[in-house]
Amino acid sequence: MVLEKEINNECVCAQTGVYMKNEMELVFDAISNNESFARVAVAAFVSPLNPTLEEMADIKTAVSEAVTNAIIHGYENLYGYGRHGEVPTAHPTIHAGKVRLHCILEGDILHIEVEDKGKGIPDISQAMEPLFTTKPQLERSGMGFAFMEAFMDDLEVESEVNNGTVVRMKKKLGTGAWIGSEE
Ligand SMILES: Nc1ncnc2c1ncn2[C@@H]1O[C@H](COP(=O)(O)OP(=O)(O)OP(=O)(O)O)[C@@H](O)[C@H]1O
Ligand SMILES: [Mg+2]
Repeated sequence: MVLEKEINNECVCAQTGVYMKNEMELVFDAISNNESFARVAVAAFVSPLNPTLEEMADIKTAVSEAVTNAIIHGYENLYGYGRHGEVPTAHPTIHAGKVRLHCILEGDILHIEVEDKGKGIPDISQAMEPLFTTKPQLERSGMGFAFMEAFMDDLEVESEVNNGTVVRMKKKLGTGAWIGSEE
């Protein structure tokens, strides 16, 4: 039986022993308000696994970075991302496009995919270098990919110029001490 195979091989949480496979997909407008929406949605999605506060913070940061990138770089919708609260006038496009957030929980592994259909990245290795940014005027620090890499266990970026970008991340949960594990 497929279910038994899945239970035996992949989808049992190492800590709880509970079978867990769950998937969700959200598509939302590429506007700054939706950065926090995406962060909270993923946090709620993983909460049944009882992640530690640190794991939760890592996941939320990685999602924020990937979604912000899709909005401000993919679609160049800078509204809401001005320096010191200023609204930049350069590309003040609103509702520039859609961001797709796709998450799968398989046992204690979380897979996250953030996709945009924006302008794409011409040189992915260069873009992923710490401190590399194409928007220094907005005081971006060029650390988004470095944070995603540091906070998640795996990071892959696929991109095509004028066709968009997909960021795939994985994290194994349950590697830290549990909240309430002393009980
Ligand atoms: N979804 C995307 N579409 C197009 N270009 C992107 C995308 N994501 C990242 N980039 C490019 O990769 C560069 C590096 O991204 P990264 O997140 O590391 O830094 P940043 O966004 O410039 O600054 P920070 O994230 O620290 O505010 C960006 O400056 C941009 O040129
Ligand atoms: Mg960034």
